[in-house]
Amino acid sequence: MVNVGVMGTGYVGLVHGAVLSSYGFRVTCMDVDEHKIERLNQGFSPIYEPGLEELLQSGIRKGTLTFTTNAQQVVQSSDVLFIAVGTPAKEDGSADLTYVWEVVQQIGKYINGNKVIVSKSTMPVGTSRNIEGYLGNMLKGTPYQAHVASNPEFLRQGKAVSDSLSPSRVVIGADSEEAVQMLKTVYATHLEQDVPFLFTNLETSEMIKYASNSFLAVKISFINELALLSEKVGARIQDIATGMGMDDRISPHFLQAGPGYGGSCFPKDTQAIVDVGRKNGEELYVVRAAIAANEKQKSKMVSKIEEAISFDGTLKGKTIAIWGLTFKPDTDDIRYAPSYDIIQGLLGKGAAVKVYCPQGMKQAARDWPELSGRIQYCGNEAECAQQADAIVLMTEWEQFRGVSWERMARSMRRNVFFDMRNMFAGDIAIRNWFQYYPVGSMEHGYSLREAQ
Ligand code: UDX
Repeated sequence: MVNVGVMGTGYVGLVHGAVLSSYGFRVTCMDVDEHKIERLNQGFSPIYEPGLEELLQSGIRKGTLTFTTNAQQVVQSSDVLFIAVGTPAKEDGSADLTYVWEVVQQIGKYINGNKVIVSKSTMPVGTSRNIEGYLGNMLKGTPYQAHVASNPEFLRQGKAVSDSLSPSRVVIGADSEEAVQMLKTVYATHLEQDVPFLFTNLETSEMIKYASNSFLAVKISFINELALLSEKVGARIQDIATGMGMDDRISPHFLQAGPGYGGSCFPKDTQAIVDVGRKNGEELYVVRAAIAANEKQKSKMVSKIEEAISFDGTLKGKTIAIWGLTFKPDTDDIRYAPSYDIIQGLLGKGAAVKVYCPQGMKQAARDWPELSGRIQYCGNEAECAQQADAIVLMTEWEQFRGVSWERMARSMRRNVFFDMRNMFAGDIAIRNWFQYYPVGSMEHGYSLREAQ
């Protein structure tokens, strides 16, 4: 039986550890945060992710999943160690590898046998090779070997458990047969399920992760730019996306126009690959343009709101209700959420802002202290809309489908609805009560109530 160690209990580490334990491996997850480890050992997940807490509790009950702060214990008891710590963006856009190297040093210090060390975090090209070199040096004069591999994670937040149980592909970058064999054992279930596997070298595997995320970001920025143009020329962006997506070579996925992409991956990874390009004398113009277009998209959304509701020439004295803070639904993650820039933009123009989000409120109150006292947190969407001049839907939470438009509209000062996700674009009912602004088409509709 293979013993698995996972260093880091963020999104990637936690989900990965929980899923491997459900396959019967004995998994130990390590983190430096004592409080988090204590809670995890009691079966509480620090993040909201559908299905994760159940998986954690089942692993703990069966005894296949444990959590510790003891690096020595996890290094020495594991045959394979996954490095799954954060690689956040530094001010200059490059990836901060402080946590990665802390973990690698601990591995080097405590290693007591042959191990396979797997880079699971998103790491700039060359990092796994450097880890291999560092551990090789540390182990000189000992009988032990550290076989390094890169095995990027492609899970999406909100679908992390199901993505891990049935991934689109498994990419393994490794030079040694030992590492390949170990990862084939760990992913035996996926091999049996006929999940596509790609075996390649360390550098290529690292690049695949950045290439995939950057490409998806480019796709989103592309459709967002066309959405802005469509609003000017009378075209409908959703039909454009459908028409484009009918071509297999393009595919309909990730062509959903919106307020700009956010989250812990796309903003960070696009910056990081541009930085890697620069350090290697290659400007990545396409990715840079996607980043710039994403920033433009957020400020355009603020201008759009301003133009539509500043009937007296200003946003001062207007109250705007923001529905949804998280960067996407089914997560409590607000990192790089476009809602933040849009709220800041509206506040900057003098609007009063009320907010409600099914999951992101606690995080916003904790992580956006600069907004404290400047925005009003509300208990539900109806309270948020009360006496507002407009609703701005920032995240497409399913629960918003259940609201009564009439009730909402009657409680507001003016009935304007900005649907930044085109969630209700096909919904006639909302147009009976609201002047409705989707993204990427001019069909505003009008509010019957306003017309009466
Ligand atoms: C992404 C990748 O999809 C995943 O493979 C990788 O492992 C991590 O990064 P995630 O950040 O969880 O996953 O979210 P994703 O669903 O990809 O959405 C990212 C952002 O793009 C969100 O803000 C989302 O709203 C936005 N988006 C996505 C769009 O605006 N339009 C789309 O068509 C798709």
